[in-house]
Amino acid sequence: MNDIISETKDGVLQLRLNRPAKKNALTGHMYRALADNLDQAATDDAVRAVIISAEGSDFCAGNDIFDFAQGWSEVQAAELEAMPVFRFLKALTFFTKPLVAAVQGQAVGVGVTVLLHCDAVVVADDVRLNLPFLKLGLVPEAGSTLLLPQRIGHTRAFGWMALGEVVTASEALSLGLVNRVVAADELAAAAEAMAGRIAALPPVAVRETKALMRDPEALWPVVQAEGEVFRRLLTSPEAMAAFAAFMRK
Ligand code: COA
Repeated sequence: MNDIISETKDGVLQLRLNRPAKKNALTGHMYRALADNLDQAATDDAVRAVIISAEGSDFCAGNDIFDFAQGWSEVQAAELEAMPVFRFLKALTFFTKPLVAAVQGQAVGVGVTVLLHCDAVVVADDVRLNLPFLKLGLVPEAGSTLLLPQRIGHTRAFGWMALGEVVTASEALSLGLVNRVVAADELAAAAEAMAGRIAALPPVAVRETKALMRDPEALWPVVQAEGEVFRRLLTSPEAMAAFAAFMRK
């Protein structure tokens, strides 16, 4: 199955998560496809901006929980970076071209933290952003322990992560997490219009601006450190119980 749809049009590469029956929960296969596409786009002059979007009613239910149960626990610390999820996070962290996200419905875990790497975010008015890591006995990942406090301040970031409250579209807008809220049936067009405008700008100026605004060299060690703790906590009794409960359901 083509669980990542990629399509380039007018200088914009669209990467669409396509596993709607599983709420677009991300598998190793999907991370690998996303990483390959980003790596290719990084050196392709025809690509001036990228949209990350998703099929179906929900953006992404986070990492596939069945994948957690199977793959991660046997991985040793030294092997972490070879995992597809880390290949994806590295490609994302070091991506030099503008990234636009189009988000609808539920976004959970990495479905939210990926947005912190995007340079512009458009959401549908039904969006619900959920960071359940602590409840699951895990730590936030994908650089979010640095990026989220930077974006919204420490107390709000910690409060969101610790209390696990769902952030709605209007809250996300007032927190500065998103650029625009639109009706669900206008989401694709709004994201395409935004990416199209960015793609029409002088590409060197856009890339230099992004380079001045982001610091991947400082971020990557944070992603690695989070990954190591995350790996360790995946086999904690709390995490195992949470995943077993989900799988029983
Ligand atoms: N991993 C694997 N499968 C997942 C999944 C995930 N993270 N999230 C959803 N699915 C699957 C469900 O198992 C279900 O599959 P089935 O139809 O074969 O039984 C299908 O997607 C639909 O999910 P469901 O829970 O019935 O949808 P919902 O609308 O009631 O709830 C969510 C949507 C996203 C709130 C809920 O699925 C959820 O909490 N998922 C887990 C999120 C999570 O903890 N992610 C990990 C973060 S680290």
